Formats: sequence, C-alpha cells, structure tokens
Amino acid sequence: MNVNDIKQVTIIGGGTMGNGISHVFAQCGYKVNLVETEQAYLDRAIKTITKNLGRMVKKEKITEDQMKATLANINPGTDLNVAADSQLVIEAVYEALDVKIEIFKKLDAICADDAILASNTSSLPITQLAGITKHPDQFIGMHFMNPVPMMKLVELIRGIATSDETFATIKELAEKLGKTPVEVNDFPGFIANRLLMPMINEAAYALMEGVGTVEAIDTVMKLGMAHPMGPLTLADFIGLDVCLAIMEVLHDGLGDTKYRPCPLLKKMVQAGYLGRKTGRGFYTYE
Ligand code: NAI
Repeated sequence: MNVNDIKQVTIIGGGTMGNGISHVFAQCGYKVNLVETEQAYLDRAIKTITKNLGRMVKKEKITEDQMKATLANINPGTDLNVAADSQLVIEAVYEALDVKIEIFKKLDAICADDAILASNTSSLPITQLAGITKHPDQFIGMHFMNPVPMMKLVELIRGIATSDETFATIKELAEKLGKTPVEVNDFPGFIANRLLMPMINEAAYALMEGVGTVEAIDTVMKLGMAHPMGPLTLADFIGLDVCLAIMEVLHDGLGDTKYRPCPLLKKMVQAGYLGRKTGRGFYTYE
C-alpha cells in the first residue's frame, strides 16, 4: 500500500496515547475512527482532544476553523467493525499482551486484506503480535511519545517479517504527520525504553544505596547532563508501575542481570506509590 492510499485510520483505545494519536491524524486531515469499550471513555477522549485543540487555538497555532475540522474528522464509537474500511489500524489499549492479542485476532478477521496493522506498545514484541495475523509483513510498531501532539519522535519497529513496503509507507506517513520516524528492530524495549528505563532503574538504586537524595540525583542529571527533567521526576510522571513492568520485560527478554529491577522500585509499587497518578512516588504531589 502506498502512503497516498491511506485515507481512513482506526485507532483502538482512547486513553492517554489513543486520544493524542487520534488528534494528530485528524488534524492532518485523516478520517479517524476512535474505538473504545464504553461511551464514557469516548466522551473523556473527545473532551481531552477538544481541550488540547482549544489550547492550540489560544496559542494561535491553529485557527478555530481548523479545530472544528479536526473534531469533525473524528468518528467515535464502540464497534470494532468500523476498521473494515480503514487502510491503517493503530492499537493503543492497555499494555497487556493477552488484551492486544485478542484485539489483533478480531482485527485480522475484520480488516481488508491489504490493511496495515500497527501497535503503539512500549515494550511488547511486535514479532509476536504480527505472528497471530494473516499478514505479518503488513504489521509494524508505531511507538508515539507522550504527549503525542507535542512530541516529534515516533519509533517505527520492524517485526521480523515487516516488509520494506510496509515500513516505507508508514515512514512516509509519519513524516506527513510532522513526526520524525526512527527505524528500530524488534528487541525488548526497542531503543527508547532500552536506554531510558535502565537509567531510571539505576537512579532508584543510587537512591536506595544512599549515594544521594532524590533532589541530588535529579539535579545532577538536569544540570550536569542537560536533561529537561531528572530521572526520578520522570519516573513519577511515567508511573512507577509502568517503569517496573518495562524493566521486567528487559530482564526477562534479554536475560541479563544488569536489567534486574531495583528492589526499592518494586517496594514502592507494592506500596501503591506509583508517582503523580497516586499523589506519591519519589516526590509527593498535592
Ligand atoms: P491508557 O490506560 O491511558 O488507555 C488505554 C485505553 O484503552 C483505555 O481508555 C481503555 O478503555 C482502552 N481499551 C482497553 N481495552 C480496549 C478494547 N478492547 N477496545 C478498545 N479500547 C480498549 O493507556 P495509554 O497510556 O494510552 O497506553 C496505551 C498503549 O500505549 C500501551 O501499549 C502503552 O504501553 C503505550 N504507550 C504509552 C505511553 C505513555 O506515556 N502513556 C507512551 C508510549 C506508548
């Protein structure tokens, strides 16, 4: 399939990532089906997209008319069968292998024979997800970054069977969306999380061993390495449960003890100190 053949896209999941991905495609003129499990989640997603577009209008990045046109491009619904007419389907549901496998099995039966299927997974194997479909050559990882409308990067993950044609089409598409695609082969954590998560994990070890305080560790990385955010602040933002889950994927998938999750990180997750979303992580939040 050629990039110009892609006119209608279905996004599965309207959470943090799914609403951002829908926003970006719709703003770029694509017809977007946004599929969720319940109307309440669709309402929440559309509310978030409307708020984010409104902010862009205020900053004069887009006009009121562009905001209206973007919202008109989004068709929210709870029926997965809308994917039948889409040339591209992007899955952005919970990071759970069984949930994703179930969805791709259904999509495999619903979608057109030449449709491209993509997953926004942060860490699950693209090759395995592709393997349950009839056309693993038309399967690819599209790993957008949060917040999607702001962040330029998209990791394009090639499963073992992803064809050059599929890769080239999705690369061009990502560029049309104003993103910078980076080609990545399918190994645990891809590039982003293979590098980021061990740094966060090591910051937790440094804290646990008393090398420095939370503030000291973050200040060293901010001022010394010009990171916009310290690793512990970033961990709180991402969610400590998400960080731990990705460390476990690296540890299991690569089998190297250098990826063992920090016991302090585990303990904090057990305590429910998950970061910003629970009001307490390495820092406390109002
Ligand atoms: P989220 O929890 O905010 O949203 C997931 C959404 O999927 C929920 O609204 C849920 O109702 C919906 N959902 C669940 N099962 C469904 C089904 N069968 N059909 C339709 N919708 C369904 O999760 P988030 O953060 O948006 O993550 C989604 C994916 O993106 C995950 O694979 C995650 O690893 C990945 N990701 C997350 C990033 C982040 O910073 N949050 C960054 C990059 C990737």
